[in-house]
Amino acid sequence: MQTYLVGGAVRDELLGIDVKDRDWVVVGATPDEMLAKGFKQVGADFPVFLHPRTREEYALARTERKQGRGYHGFSVYSAPDVTLEEDLKRRDLTINAMARDECGELVDPFHGLEDLQARQLRHVSPAFAEDPLRILRTARFAARFRPMGFEVHPDTMTLMRQMVAEGEVDHLVPERVWQEIQRALHEQEPGTFFEVLRDCGALAVLIPELSDDDRLAEALAALRRVAQQDTSTEQRFAAVLLPLSAEQAVTRSEAMKAPNDCRDLARLTCHFKTALADLSSTEDSIASALLELLDHADLWRREARFEALAQVLDHALPDDLRTRVKALQIAARAAVGVNPRELLAQGFKGKALGEAIRAERLKRIEQALPVSNR
Ligand code: CTP
Repeated sequence: MQTYLVGGAVRDELLGIDVKDRDWVVVGATPDEMLAKGFKQVGADFPVFLHPRTREEYALARTERKQGRGYHGFSVYSAPDVTLEEDLKRRDLTINAMARDECGELVDPFHGLEDLQARQLRHVSPAFAEDPLRILRTARFAARFRPMGFEVHPDTMTLMRQMVAEGEVDHLVPERVWQEIQRALHEQEPGTFFEVLRDCGALAVLIPELSDDDRLAEALAALRRVAQQDTSTEQRFAAVLLPLSAEQAVTRSEAMKAPNDCRDLARLTCHFKTALADLSSTEDSIASALLELLDHADLWRREARFEALAQVLDHALPDDLRTRVKALQIAARAAVGVNPRELLAQGFKGKALGEAIRAERLKRIEQALPVSNR
C-alpha cells in the first residue's frame, strides 16, 4: 500500500503558508489492514482512520457518485483498486487536488500547480457540480486567498452559475451553509466570500435581502471595517446584516440556523442603527432616549454583549452617526455605575426601587453627556 499527503497541506506548503492539518490518502489497502496496523476507524460513511500516534486522518482512496439532491445521497466506492488519480479527481479545486508521495514527489494530474502559480481557483472536473457546498467552499477560498491574487476561474464561475440556476443551492442544509459562513467571516477578506456568492447568484438564494446592490455595498463596507478589528463571529455577522431591519435580521438568522448569540447581536445592531439615526428627531431628551436604548440592550445583565454591540456600531455605522455611538458609550459607562443595592439600603422597595434606579441612571447620564447632547 502507498500513502500520500493530499489536499490543503500540499497546497499550503506550495504557497509557503503554515500547514495546519495534514490529511493522507492510502492506496491499495483494505479497512482490515488499517485496523491491523493500529489505526482507529472514525468515518461512518467513508473509510477514514486516525493514525495511532499522530492522530492525523488517513482515508482509503475512494470515488464518490452523487445519487440524490443536496449534500446527502453520495454513494462511496472504496477498494484497493481505486487509484490515487481517481481519488484526486473527485475533489473540488485543482489546487486542492495535488498529492505528495512518500519520496516527496508531487503528484499533480489536474495541473493544480499551474493554477496555483496562475492564482486560479478552478474546478477539477464536472463532478464539482455534484456537491453544491463547493460553491461556498470556493467562495471561502477566494476570501482566504484573494490577498495573494487568487480569483475564481471563469469556467468555474460559469459552472457555479449553472448549479445555482438549477436550484442546487436551495437544497443545502442550513447547518452546512452556516458552517461555511462562519468560517468565511474569519478569512483574510470575508467580503470577497459574499461577492463571489453574489456573482454566481447564490447570495440571492442564501441572503436575498442583500441582492440589492446598495444594500450589499453597505454590508460589505461595514464588514470590512469590523473585520479589520479583532472581532467575533457574532460581530462580523451583525455587520453583514446591518442593512436589514431588526425583524428581517431575526427572520434571516433563524432561517440560516445561525446561533442565538449571532441572531441577537444582529437584531440589536439593526435596531440601534435605526434608533440612533432617529434619535434627535423623536426625543426631547437625548439622555432618556439613550437610557431606553440601554434598557433595550439589557446592559445591566449583558454588559459584555453591549460592549460587542458598541464596537460593531462604532466601526460599522456611517460617520455621521459616530458621535451618537460615542454618546451611547458615555451614557452606558455612567449608567452602569448605579448600584441597586445602595438604593435598596436607602429603603427603596418594589416599584419605587425601580423608579429610583431609573432616576439615578438618568441623572448620571445627563451629567456625563457633553452639554450639546443633553
Ligand atoms: N474536499 C472536496 N469537496 C468538499 C470537501 C473537501 O473536494 N466538499 C476535498 C478537497 O480536496 C480538500 C480536502 O477534501 O482539500 C480536505 O478538505 P478540508 O479539510 O475541508 O479542506 P482543506 O483544503 O484542507 O482546507 P482548510 O485549509 O480550510 O482546512
